[in-house]
Amino acid sequence: MFEKFSLHKGKTESPHHVTKSGRVPEHVAIIMDGNGRWAKKRGLPRIAGHREAMKTIKRITKEADRLGVKVLTLFAFSTENWKRPKAEVEFLMKLPQQFLTTYLTELVEQNVQVQAMGDLSRLPAYTLQAVKSAIERTENNTGLILNFALNYGSHAEIVHAVQNIIQEVSDHHLSLEDVTEQKIAEHMMSPALPDPDLLIRTGGEIRLSNFMLWQLAYTELYFSEEFWPDFNERSLQEAVHVFSARQRRFGGLAEGSEDS
Ligand code: IPE
Ligand code: IPE
Ligand code: MG
Repeated sequence: MFEKFSLHKGKTESPHHVTKSGRVPEHVAIIMDGNGRWAKKRGLPRIAGHREAMKTIKRITKEADRLGVKVLTLFAFSTENWKRPKAEVEFLMKLPQQFLTTYLTELVEQNVQVQAMGDLSRLPAYTLQAVKSAIERTENNTGLILNFALNYGSHAEIVHAVQNIIQEVSDHHLSLEDVTEQKIAEHMMSPALPDPDLLIRTGGEIRLSNFMLWQLAYTELYFSEEFWPDFNERSLQEAVHVFSARQRRFGGLAEGSEDS
């Protein structure tokens, strides 16, 4: 499911004005939050917000692609979201099928490659079927990678990685010295993807809610007050613009600031 592909790390130039002077994040990850509050504000049931969210996913995927983003990871359902009322969970589980039925043809035309990460085995059969068929139908596409985090949780991911590594060590396929940062990264659920350069969370909360804790170690964080259904092309442009003005140091020194 997690096809290997090569992506160069580093600077990519966008042909568009928002990032003329700076870099475009190669991998953008988004915690799409605020659907329920968006609906409540309008006197609508929470699920109306989730329905509206699909339109935003479509628009943002298109805009991310236009800006030159190579990978877009979207947090769609967390391992903790099962705690919600049954009816809401059921509605959320129907969304992948609805989204893909409505938009898959367009995504194929856009050369988008759909991927998914998370414990997909716990999803209802119809959800899994929709996701699998989208992955298969787009696996040879070479454009933007649209990676859905579905029944994803960082703690569960780490537990899974540790279990697999211990198994390999006890089977003598791996020695203790082989357990490096690289090896751990390979056992995460996004082994073929570069770490996110930019994380966006909509909806005003300033937290990660168990999202990609390993991969976000040096990611630039951007929090927006907008509810996800209100987040639009301009909102993404603004986030990318802010990113392009940030200076990333990865623990080193800024360019040109050495003493010599
Ligand atoms: C994000 O919106 C969607 C999911 C977590 C599935 P919420 O449903 O969390 O909306 P708020 O945060 O309650 O407004
Ligand atoms: C994070 O949002 C999960 C997704 C967007 C899928 P939540 O709404 O579940 O996060 P908390 O509960 O506010 O931390
Ligand atoms: Mg929320």
